[in-house]
Amino acid sequence: MTSNATDQQQRPPRPKKGEAVEVAFDALAFGGAALGRREGFVIFTKYAAPGDRAKVRIHHAKKNYGEGELVELLQPSPDRIAPVCPLFTHCGGCSWQHLPIEVQRAWKERIVRDSLRAIPGGEAITLHPLVASPDTWRYRNKMEFTFARWPNGRLVAGFHRPDNWREILDVEKCWLAPEPVERILRAAVDEGVRQNLTAWNPKTHEGTLRQLVVRHSVAEDGFLALILTGDRAFDFGSFADALMRAEPRLKGIAWGLNAGQSDVARASDVLETRGADTLEEKLDDFTFRVSLASFFQTNTRGAAKLYRIVRDSLELTGKERLLDAYCGTGTIGIFCASGAREVYGIELVQDAIHDARENAARNGLRNTMFMAGDMRLALPAMMNAIEGRIDRLVVDPPRGGMERKALDQLLALRAPRIAYVSCNPTTMARDLVPAIESGYAVECVTPVDMFPQTYHVECVAKLTLRQ
Ligand SMILES: C[S@@+](CC[C@H](N)C(=O)[O-])C[C@H]1O[C@@H](n2cnc3c(N)ncnc32)[C@H](O)[C@@H]1O
Repeated sequence: MTSNATDQQQRPPRPKKGEAVEVAFDALAFGGAALGRREGFVIFTKYAAPGDRAKVRIHHAKKNYGEGELVELLQPSPDRIAPVCPLFTHCGGCSWQHLPIEVQRAWKERIVRDSLRAIPGGEAITLHPLVASPDTWRYRNKMEFTFARWPNGRLVAGFHRPDNWREILDVEKCWLAPEPVERILRAAVDEGVRQNLTAWNPKTHEGTLRQLVVRHSVAEDGFLALILTGDRAFDFGSFADALMRAEPRLKGIAWGLNAGQSDVARASDVLETRGADTLEEKLDDFTFRVSLASFFQTNTRGAAKLYRIVRDSLELTGKERLLDAYCGTGTIGIFCASGAREVYGIELVQDAIHDARENAARNGLRNTMFMAGDMRLALPAMMNAIEGRIDRLVVDPPRGGMERKALDQLLALRAPRIAYVSCNPTTMARDLVPAIESGYAVECVTPVDMFPQTYHVECVAKLTLRQ
């Protein structure tokens, strides 16, 4: 018998697309889906839970695994709880509301552990217990809603359906957003109805109301709103009055034009503003100016916890030169600046660097320097400008992890300590391999639950250069 034939005999039977099969689930995976098996064949299914036995309709079946949709719960997991949000399973924002927070945390820890185990030597890496978010609900400091006119003529605002991007869900309440956001959102829809406004039509590229962005500052307990419209057929004054009447903590509102093809909620022109255009936010002793456009960690109180872990893992003594790579608005570098001799930051987005400089000045820091540019080009330029070595390195790349060449450049700095901050345990594990091969030891990894009710998990890996 050929080895191919042996393989086929040993491989579990693959279900067909469209077939409904019974699956026993025993794990959760990064990405949110539960992992189950039918006669040994692995099937991923969203909104199932470890311990469930369920009927699943198969959507795709590849060689080694399939994906399907939960159609009937035959025997629910004892861990299951009733999700609080009626839009759970429709909106796609929360993947694990059907599980208690302790169970969510345990699975996040396990997902990180499994990602580390997948790399050579990963078994031996110390994994600290997951650090909980101070808030398990209403922790998001920025929300974006999209307007639509449903076929029945109703004006709604909410989120894109993940399974049908063009369809907008009517959202009255999001349990991840602070409660006043609901009043601001309701007032925006009511005022849209009162002014008889059209909603942006993504097919015809016409219409008025397009998106509403709301930002919250925990320190001020204040809000900013941005209303984006596709045209100018809009009475901004009445709209601003209505929103500010509905929520007195709304400190400012701006009207921006957004008639572009992309669904990104960004103004091509700001047409009018009312009240404040920035808020002040605090992380421990540091204050940050945040505007509607600026990047800030989504879970403010969680960010303070995360940054403390980063700072502790750097073991600063006041003598070090610290490089904050992928620094965004410079928040990590600023948070660590009083413990370091000098702080340097590199970030692709010029506006974020502008905010980083403002934030450093606002905190009275004189030992920071921020540079805008793509890491691969900006790093050599920065190193030329500053001469000498980097003693501490913070790396906080986007979800996709690091481009290999940029990673090699950063490792070549031979910083004695690195804090690698990651929002994706899979790409973090991948990026740790070249770090280990180039002489670093991963002392520990600390997972931080920045996004309760979702599968997302942040991690801080502490790396030390071996002598
Ligand atoms: C996860 S965020 C880091 C945010 C920041 N450390 C904080 O805590 O707020 C990743 C950042 O990397 C930046 N970025 C993405 N690609 C980059 C590149 N090629 N070079 C430099 N920065 C980049 C993004 O603009 C983004 O601000």
